[in-house]
Amino acid sequence: LGAFAVPASAQNYPTRTITMIVPFAAGGPTDVISRIVTAHMAQTLGQSIVIENVVGAGGTTATTRAARAANDGYTLITGHMGTHAASVPLYPKLAYHPEKDFEPVALLAGTPILILARKDFPPKDLKEFVAYVKANAEKVNAAHAGIGSVSHASCELLNSILDVKPVGVPFNGTGPAMNALVAGQVDYMCDQIVNAVPQIKAGTIKAYAVATPERNPSLPEVPTTTEAGLPAFQAQAWNAVFAPKGASPAIIATLNAAAIKALDDDNVRKRLLDLGSVIPAPANRTPEALATLVKNEIAKWTPVLKPAS
Ligand code: MLT
Repeated sequence: LGAFAVPASAQNYPTRTITMIVPFAAGGPTDVISRIVTAHMAQTLGQSIVIENVVGAGGTTATTRAARAANDGYTLITGHMGTHAASVPLYPKLAYHPEKDFEPVALLAGTPILILARKDFPPKDLKEFVAYVKANAEKVNAAHAGIGSVSHASCELLNSILDVKPVGVPFNGTGPAMNALVAGQVDYMCDQIVNAVPQIKAGTIKAYAVATPERNPSLPEVPTTTEAGLPAFQAQAWNAVFAPKGASPAIIATLNAAAIKALDDDNVRKRLLDLGSVIPAPANRTPEALATLVKNEIAKWTPVLKPAS
């Protein structure tokens, strides 16, 4: 097909406001990353990008809505390791499939997972945490952002390594879950670093470890799970833009280029890095690389996670 075959709507794209669905509450990691990157993308595209927070069911409510939206490039979603991987094994009746119902657009950020606790939770370090949670398995609770969210899936992995089943306390996102942790209303949480850095720096919560091979430059004092004695727990999430299936290649290319430009912007990079995110290397920024990531992540999480009962 020659260039003349591209529909006029795709050639002029975008001519009006774009909606970016965020499948969790405002103030949480998905929301924060989306706002930082889309503010810059909007400048490049010459149109506003409005964030719409659509909460519920661990992000799957919003992701179902995005899958069914018009594929004209005006409704997009920031999905993540939960909505586009972990939810597959956890919801046997999931109303969408991450690979079949979406066009991958661009990876925005990698987000290491931390084991966090309320400030007055008794264990002082990760070894004590492990012993305490095992000894008090009946009474400790763990906050998360709903079945299939990153915080839920990554703490399921942690809990299976520790062989404990704490009471799960679901929220509409780890923004509100973090508020409950800071207020001392819940005991612990596995959360993405962007949500944790401001609170750890403010001294309002405890961080036992970061679940990546290296310490994170934004939190140099927080040990890795390997250093702290739990090398089996390794977890890093990711956030990425997706369009409904069938959005035109021209639209995907326009959006991908705008996302890459944002990731190369000094101010965007500083804001993401200050919050501990990992900015994708150039080779990982293509739609094809994101498609591969989604495929690999579904394969990785499927044996780890059991359907919600
Ligand atoms: C999650 O646990 O999936 C996220 O942290 C949700 C959010 O962005 O609030």
